[in-house]
Amino acid sequence: MNTLITGGAGFVGSRLAIALASEGHSVVVADNLSATAGWQLLGPRVAGVLRAHADIRIPDDLDRLPAGRWDRVYHLAASFANERSVAHPELDATTNVEGTRNVLAHARARGCGLFVYAGSSSSYGDVEPPFHEDGAMRPGTPYAHTKLAGEALVRGSGLEHAVLRLFNVYGPGDVPDPWRNAIPNMFAALHAQEGRVTLFGEGATRDFTYVGDVVRALLQAERATGTVVNVATGVETAVREVATACLQVADAPRDRLVVGDRRGWDRVVRRVADVSRMRQLFGWTPETGLSEGLAATFAWLRAEGLLSRTAR
Ligand SMILES: NC(=O)c1ccc[n+]([C@@H]2O[C@H](COP(=O)([O-])OP(=O)(O)OC[C@H]3O[C@@H](n4cnc5c(N)ncnc54)[C@H](O)[C@@H]3O)[C@@H](O)[C@H]2O)c1
Repeated sequence: MNTLITGGAGFVGSRLAIALASEGHSVVVADNLSATAGWQLLGPRVAGVLRAHADIRIPDDLDRLPAGRWDRVYHLAASFANERSVAHPELDATTNVEGTRNVLAHARARGCGLFVYAGSSSSYGDVEPPFHEDGAMRPGTPYAHTKLAGEALVRGSGLEHAVLRLFNVYGPGDVPDPWRNAIPNMFAALHAQEGRVTLFGEGATRDFTYVGDVVRALLQAERATGTVVNVATGVETAVREVATACLQVADAPRDRLVVGDRRGWDRVVRRVADVSRMRQLFGWTPETGLSEGLAATFAWLRAEGLLSRTAR
């Protein structure tokens, strides 16, 4: 299969590229490296994976990608995530909306067989959990809005498509970064001398989904052709519980956990997916447990020397 992955130098995309190549598929990774320090997450050059420096906001960059038909386009490039979008909403408009429109036009011109879009659980906003694909949506941040707008563009494109709404992905490949996800930032914060893990308000829950399970679903995306599906565990986990588990994995004392104020932009207290559609379409739901996933994440961060990266 001839495959294009936009955003393939990032966390999820790099794991997907390696998995596709190991199954013998030919992969072109297109990325402007804006969120990554380079191609490091892809590791050493892998046979079958071609790296193209391209910005999805620039149609000429897409035109310059290697010629030929794409059997499948995975569109993962995005300005990620909520907090960054509040500070830089213009990036979300140009990347997540206009960029998605450009990638769709490119895919159409290249006879794309299946267009796979990484949607986001953030787009549900503060609705009543569990979140069902056909239920209410109340996006609150520019990121949540623009990821939903991207879905609308994909669904109206006329291309064969599948929209996979990912829930709080974590695992090896997710780097500590002030704008990014909680788990690597918690590990990095603990690593700092006298480091503290900060909970931003009490009572928050999320549906933490291990990257290996997400990649497995992306590889089988044809099962969701023509529809939207949550990719999640269906397990509602308190962020406090995750923070406590991080302390255990990192062998840090419990008093390192402190509670701060809720962040003004974050109005979603409870988040968990209804996974009945995923179970029906895929025949499985993610099975990697939190303790196993957190241990793998911590081991990866340590092995890569990333624990001393600036955390939130
Ligand atoms: N990680 C999560 O928890 C999560 C949850 C829900 C949805 N998603 C979605 O999954 C996708 C992948 O997420 P991720 O965690 O791997 O993010 P990431 O930031 O690690 O990867 C995104 C990649 O897109 C690239 N990119 C950004 N702007 C670009 C542009 N203009 N042109 C080309 N490349 C550009 C970045 O350099 C980065 O490598 C995103 O679409 C995100 O919205 C992620």
